[in-house]
Order: sequence, then C-alpha cells, then structure tokens
Amino acid sequence: MYSLLRKFLFLFDAEVIHVFSLNMMSFINTTGLLKLFIKKRIDAPVTVMGITFPNAVGLAAGMDKNARHIDALSQCGFGFVEVGTVTPLPQPGNDKPRLFRLQADHAIINRMGFNNEGVDTLVDHVKQSNWYKRSNGFKQKHGRCILGINIGKNKATPLENAVDDYLICMQQVYNYADYITINISSPNTPGLRKLQHGEGLSDLLIQLKNKQTELSQKNQRYVPLAVKIAPDLDEAEIKDIADRLLAAEIDAVIATNTTNSRPSSLLCQQLATEAGGLSGQPILDLSTRVLKQLVKALDSKIPVIAVGGIASAADAMEKINAGASLVQIYTGFIYSGPKLISDCALVLKNH
Ligand SMILES: Cc1cc2nc3c(=O)[nH]c(=O)nc-3n(C[C@H](O)[C@H](O)[C@H](O)COP(=O)(O)O)c2cc1C
Repeated sequence: MYSLLRKFLFLFDAEVIHVFSLNMMSFINTTGLLKLFIKKRIDAPVTVMGITFPNAVGLAAGMDKNARHIDALSQCGFGFVEVGTVTPLPQPGNDKPRLFRLQADHAIINRMGFNNEGVDTLVDHVKQSNWYKRSNGFKQKHGRCILGINIGKNKATPLENAVDDYLICMQQVYNYADYITINISSPNTPGLRKLQHGEGLSDLLIQLKNKQTELSQKNQRYVPLAVKIAPDLDEAEIKDIADRLLAAEIDAVIATNTTNSRPSSLLCQQLATEAGGLSGQPILDLSTRVLKQLVKALDSKIPVIAVGGIASAADAMEKINAGASLVQIYTGFIYSGPKLISDCALVLKNH
C-alpha cells in the first residue's frame, strides 16, 4: 500500500509533499485512525545513555524540525524520535528548491540550511503535544517513546560565537528532552563542520558539559548529550574526535550526517550535481566505515547511534554488528514507509 502512495506523492515537489505528508499524518492521528495503517510498535527495550528506549530504531533529525508532529511520529513504531535541528532564532534556510529525490538511487540531496522556527517555538510545540502531557514530567514510564532534541547554530552567528548558540538552545530545551544532540556536522551551514576539529571542538564540548552539570543540578535531572558527526572524515580525524569526546565525557555519538561526496555509482548523475548533503542507500558503506572506525577509536567506552543509508532490516543489523547501540532512519522511511521501522525493530529484537 505504501509503494502505491509513494508513487502518487513522488509526482509532486519534494518539499511541498514533505510538509503535506507530515500534516496529513498528524491530522489522521488526531482522528485516532493512524493506528489502522501502522503496525503496533515492536517492544524490545534497550538501555543506552541511562535511558530505556522501547526499541532500538529511531527517526533521525531533520524531518520534524519544529517538533510539530511528535504525536503522530511517535505512533509510527519508532523507539525514539529526534526533532530539530533547531537554532536560537528562527531562520528561513536556503533558497528553494533545496530538496531533491534521486529516485533510482533511493537517495535524497538536501541543502535545507536549518530552516526552522526557532527554539522557543519548538519548546512550545513540545509542551503542547499529548506526548509531553502523557510523559508526566519525564518520569520513566514503560514504553514511552523517547524524544531527542537536536540543536545547532544560526547561519548569521559567526563561527567563533557558535558555542553561545548551542548554550542558548541547551538551556531552553533541557527540560523538554530525553537527550540533546549537538549537531556540528550539517554540510549546509557554512563553516559548521570546522567545529568538529582541534582545540575548538574540545572548548565547545567542555562548555557544553559545564552547562549540563549546572542544569542537571538545578533541575535534578541529568539529560545526556550526544554529538553528531559527518561521514566525510578520515581515520586520523575520527581518532582525534573520539579522543576529545572521551576526554569531555560526552554521553553518545551519532554517526553519521549526510555526505558531501558523490559515489560514482549514482544512477541519477544529473541530480547528483546539486549542492547539498546526500543521504539514503548510497551512503550506507561510507557511513558504516566511519561507524566502525569510531567504535574502535572509542574503545566501546561511549555508545554510538548509527544513521546513514539504512534501507532494510539487514542494513540495521549491519550497523549493530559494527558496534552501534541504536539506529536511526530518515531517507529509508521516505522510500519504504513505516514497515521498515517494524522490520528493523523485529530483526534487532531477535538478534
Ligand atoms: C531533508 C533532510 C533534512 C535533514 N536535516 C537534518 C537536520 O536538520 N539535522 C541533522 O542533524 N540531520 C539532518 N539530516 C540528516 C539525517 O538526520 C541523517 O543523518 C542522514 O540523512 C543520514 O541518514 P539516512 O541515510 O537514513 O537518511 C537531514 C536529512 C535529510 C534527508
């Protein structure tokens, strides 16, 4: 049924359909009928970063940038949903068109550029969600879908002041997230990926950890920090990042974001010339290579959440076999629909 629906949806502009589909899903959810179209969530609890996830399969950041659709997305079978990337101030993102489907490759190129309504609006949306009202002050409740909030910097903020943007967002979202992701790996915010390197990375991590300590004491609640990295890193760079993450005692790493590279095997060569980050099936091997090198460099001392190119249950299994503790999906969900979530969760449950 989903492949028929996809054929229809793919007749229209990618970004228009993105907004339309999420709005439709939320609307159907308010009628109580969404459950009719989606299998019950697979129950396979796993504890990572001190949090019990109802299953190991999550939605990656970027689909629900403003946390408007938590109620619907948390009904799709995911064990966790990551919203954002959100920035301190609202910003429009890059000019359209900025989202392209490479259908023959089961891939997407995007250069959205952190289009979002700002952190205050995101927090309002979380507070208004039924998910939040039912979460009962985040007290561990069996089977609650876990919420990650992914934070970034505004395009207009100079790179040397980037830490201020992360601190502002962290302060605002702290009481509304199960975990917080520090996104330093989007290819669509000029200079952002420079934050992944050298003393600049250590400075950023130390300031974020200090803020976490301050907020956890003030709120009597520890919210873990995950750092999301790019796939466009060589082994020496991964080792350097891993050492700095270990030194700062970061709680988890998410590997990986989209890639700037373009595998020569891509079938949609013309669309492949569009600027932006490539995601989906063609990045599986690249992303898993980074995952393996990262797991080795971290010596399994920090859990890794694997994302990048998962298009089947076997791909999810490959990520777990490579050392990941959890997986996330974005592009595969667009191409395969909710069945991919239950397929992945089931195979991970039984492994
Ligand atoms: C349209 C689109 C927008 C995205 N926006 C974000 C974002 O705002 N923040 C982020 O950390 N990752 C973002 N991502 C990256 C995904 O979270 C994920 O890391 C990447 O797509 C690789 O996974 P996939 O191959 O399953 O799609 C975006 C991806 C896509 C396709």
